[in-house]
Amino acid sequence: MIKVSLISLGCAKNLVDSEIMVGHLHQAGMQVVPDAAAADVVIVNTCSFIDSSKEESIGHILTAHEQRGLRKRRQAQKLIVAGCMAQRFARELPGALPEVDAFIGLDQITRVAPIIEGLFLRDGGSTDVPVNFVTPRSTYVPDYDTPRFRLTPRHYAYVKIAEGCNHPCTFCIIPQIRGRHRSRTVASVVTEARALVAEGVRELNLISQDTTFFGMDTWAERPGPRSPAESARGAALTTLLRQLQAIEGDFWIRLLYTHPAHWSDELIRTIAECPKVARYVDMPLQHISDRMLDRMQRETNAAFIRDLIGRIRAGIPGIALRTTFIVGFPGETESDVDALCEFIRATRFERLGVFRYSREEGTRAAKLPGQVPAKEKERRWRRVMALQKDIAAGISRRQVGRTLRVLVEEPGVARSEADAPDIDGRVYVSRFLPVGEFADVAIKGHHEYDLLALPPGERPVEYKVARQAQ
Ligand code: F3S
Repeated sequence: MIKVSLISLGCAKNLVDSEIMVGHLHQAGMQVVPDAAAADVVIVNTCSFIDSSKEESIGHILTAHEQRGLRKRRQAQKLIVAGCMAQRFARELPGALPEVDAFIGLDQITRVAPIIEGLFLRDGGSTDVPVNFVTPRSTYVPDYDTPRFRLTPRHYAYVKIAEGCNHPCTFCIIPQIRGRHRSRTVASVVTEARALVAEGVRELNLISQDTTFFGMDTWAERPGPRSPAESARGAALTTLLRQLQAIEGDFWIRLLYTHPAHWSDELIRTIAECPKVARYVDMPLQHISDRMLDRMQRETNAAFIRDLIGRIRAGIPGIALRTTFIVGFPGETESDVDALCEFIRATRFERLGVFRYSREEGTRAAKLPGQVPAKEKERRWRRVMALQKDIAAGISRRQVGRTLRVLVEEPGVARSEADAPDIDGRVYVSRFLPVGEFADVAIKGHHEYDLLALPPGERPVEYKVARQAQ
């Protein structure tokens, strides 16, 4: 039996691709093992979003290669590189990384097992040049019955509702990697969700590059009569949320990666009316200066964003807003950063991440004049992060004395509705609460981004660093 070890890097969308690969490996009778040293094949599923993710991916590939040099069966172990970096640099990587046996792209994840079998058949264990299976322009999108083995804890799952992206953001390479936006159908997602809830999943995290664009790619083409509600652009997402809400069971639905340009009053109303949809909005805004939004081609402006946030806050009481900003974008001045800080101070985002702009080859922003030196980007990043740290502490302080519903992640550590997995803060709870279940806990204190809800006399498990500071 062929043993395969898989290293999954990057975002939740890549993790779902890893889960699909593992599902197909199992279906083909292969064994997936955690220890690379015990494997016949090592797959590195890479990320290529910014420089640091490329460096991390290359680091893992080279380590995997070095480690197989230590094995006795050295010639027998295969090294496969998959994911966004393989897709993005399909032409360059085979020459740059000859130690790799095969490169597979985003559209080959369901073919991973026959590709592995082919590598062993090809030459009985040794290849001189990598085999490149990557095809240009990714078009694949999974369905409810796609074989998949979940790599998340039993109580939460990622559900990829669409793939690809049609936005023209000048700093982002992902549309070039993942292709045009293509939505699954509402029925396909609901069927998958129903099965996950039946398995005991307590939180469905809906993901894609832009979840608010769900169904908009097929909206114009759909035949047949429509009700007034269905006629609206964006109706697919509200229909989906209402159908997920109707699934029996106790679970949260979390909407990740929304784009401000596609929010509607109907979406706000739907979230407000669906209690299973977490009171949490993940909406990357990137900046507030009109000059920067224009240069980034974000299809929004400051007035639109301020108005939208006002409507979301008014329409969904208790909502926690999560966003991300980029500092150091080409042409950004100190007064743009002043405007950003002023906006953050006024809006008081419950959750906020800040990125230093990364100049990515192949993007239009890489060619823009006014590139900001690294040291200056760092200074601006520190300024915004220090501001948010104070705001977050005030927000945490306001939770003290309240009772919150949390989902227990591991002994002693839980998440509230306002905390997405792997991104936001934590709630430290009694280590005796059952893992994977909801609990109502009284908040007694806070520590930076995290909340403390411990019974008297119980000490928290070791603090973990919240991802918000990255
Ligand atoms: Fe995700 Fe990285 Fe690809 S962020 S979409 S794995 S480039």
